[in-house]
Amino acid sequence: MDISNQIYSRKSCRKYLDDELDMSAIKEFLSNVKVLNPEINYSYEIFTKDEINIRTRWKAPYYLAIYSEKKDNFGVNAGFIFQQLSLFMQTLGIGSCWVGMASLKKNNPDFVILIAFGKSDNLTRDVSKFKRKSLSEIADSPDEKLKPAQLAPSAVNSQPWYFTHTDEGFDVFKVKPNVLKRKIFGKWNDIDVGIALAHLYVSNPDTFEFEVKNKEDIKGYSYIGSLKI
Ligand SMILES: Cc1cc2nc3c(=O)[nH]c(=O)nc-3n(C[C@H](O)[C@H](O)[C@H](O)COP(=O)(O)O)c2cc1C
Repeated sequence: MDISNQIYSRKSCRKYLDDELDMSAIKEFLSNVKVLNPEINYSYEIFTKDEINIRTRWKAPYYLAIYSEKKDNFGVNAGFIFQQLSLFMQTLGIGSCWVGMASLKKNNPDFVILIAFGKSDNLTRDVSKFKRKSLSEIADSPDEKLKPAQLAPSAVNSQPWYFTHTDEGFDVFKVKPNVLKRKIFGKWNDIDVGIALAHLYVSNPDTFEFEVKNKEDIKGYSYIGSLKI
C-alpha cells in the first residue's frame, strides 16, 4: 500500500475515540519497516494511557514508547522509523501525535519519546491548511522534490531541517539551537529531521539512499547526512 499520500492530508491527532485496537497490523508493519542506520538497536512498547505520565491537556487511548541505543543520530533514526508507522496508521483510521510532553512511569535510559495513537474520526485536513515554511526557506534553492519534507510534522512546528543541493541529491542539516533552546530542542530536532527524511523515503522508496559523509556544518546548521531520492 502507498502510504505517501497521507503526507498531504495528515495532521497531529488530539481527539480520539475509545475503541480498543488490535495491534497486529502495527506490529507486522514495524517488523518490515525501513531503518536509516541498521547499526542502532531500537525497540518499542505499547502502553495504555493510564500507564504513562501525560502532561498534555488531551489524551489518547494508547502510547507507543520508543527506545534506542544512544549512538550518533539515534533520534534521526527513531523519527525516520516511527513516522513511517504514523503514516501507515493513518491508512487504518488510526490517528497519532508525537508527544514530547509525556514520560514513562518507570525510568529507562534507552527511552526516546512517545507517540500517542488511537482510532479517530478527525484525522485529516486540506493541504492548504498546513502551516509550514516555504520551499525557499528550507533549502538553498526551492525544489518541489522537497515538498514531502516541507510538510513533515515537528516539535512545536519548528521545522528545523535545511537542505542543500549536491551532485547526487541533497545534504540535510538541522538548525543549531541557541543555548536556551538546546536542552529541550536538541533531542527533538533530531527526531524532526528523521521524520522529514521518512517523508522523502516513502515518497521515493525505490531510489532513496542515505549516508553520513565527512562534511562540514554550514552557518547556523549542523550536518546530518547526505541523500539521494
Ligand atoms: C518530536 C515531536 C514532539 C511533539 N510533542 C508534542 C507534544 O508534546 N504535544 C502536542 O500536542 N504536540 C506535539 N507534537 C506535535 C507538533 O506540535 C505538530 O507536529 C506540529 O505542530 C505540526 O502540526 P501537524 O502535525 O498537525 O502537521 C510533537 C511533534 C514532534 C515531531
